[in-house]
Amino acid sequence: MRIHNIFDRNSHWKHSTPFTKEEIDNRKRKTHAMAKITYVEHGGTEHTVEVANGLTVMEGARDNNIPGIEADCGGACACSTCHVYIHPDWVEKIPAKDDMEEDMLDFAYEPDPARSRLTCQIKVTDALEGLIVQMPEKQI
Ligand code: FES
Repeated sequence: MRIHNIFDRNSHWKHSTPFTKEEIDNRKRKTHAMAKITYVEHGGTEHTVEVANGLTVMEGARDNNIPGIEADCGGACACSTCHVYIHPDWVEKIPAKDDMEEDMLDFAYEPDPARSRLTCQIKVTDALEGLIVQMPEKQI
C-alpha cells in the first residue's frame, strides 16, 4: 500500500500523487473512450454522434436529443419504447439479448426477430465503434 503526504510542499507532484502515471493514463483513456454511433430515423435522417463507453445506446440517443427513441421507463427494460433495428452488419457483433429483453421485445412495434433490440440493454464499448441502428416507424 502506498502512503503519500500530499501536503508535503517539498515533494514533487509526481512523488505525492496517489496514482501512478499508468493509472492516470488509464483513467484519461476511460474518461474519453467514445464510440461513434449512427442513429437512422425511420424517414432516413441520420444522426452520427459520439457516445461515451459505459452509457447505453438508448442514453446516447437521449443525451443527443435524437428523435425516435422514447425510453419511457428510463432504461429499466419495462416499456420497449427504445426499440431499434440493428444494421445487418452489426447483428452478430453486439452482445446477445437476454430473456428479459427478448420478452419485452414482444411489446415493441413490428419487431424483427433477427434485428430488433432494445437500446437500453446495449452497453456502449469500443467494440461498438461504427454501430448503425434504425428506429421503427413508431414506438408501440
Ligand atoms: S427504455 Fe424502456 S425498455 Fe428500454
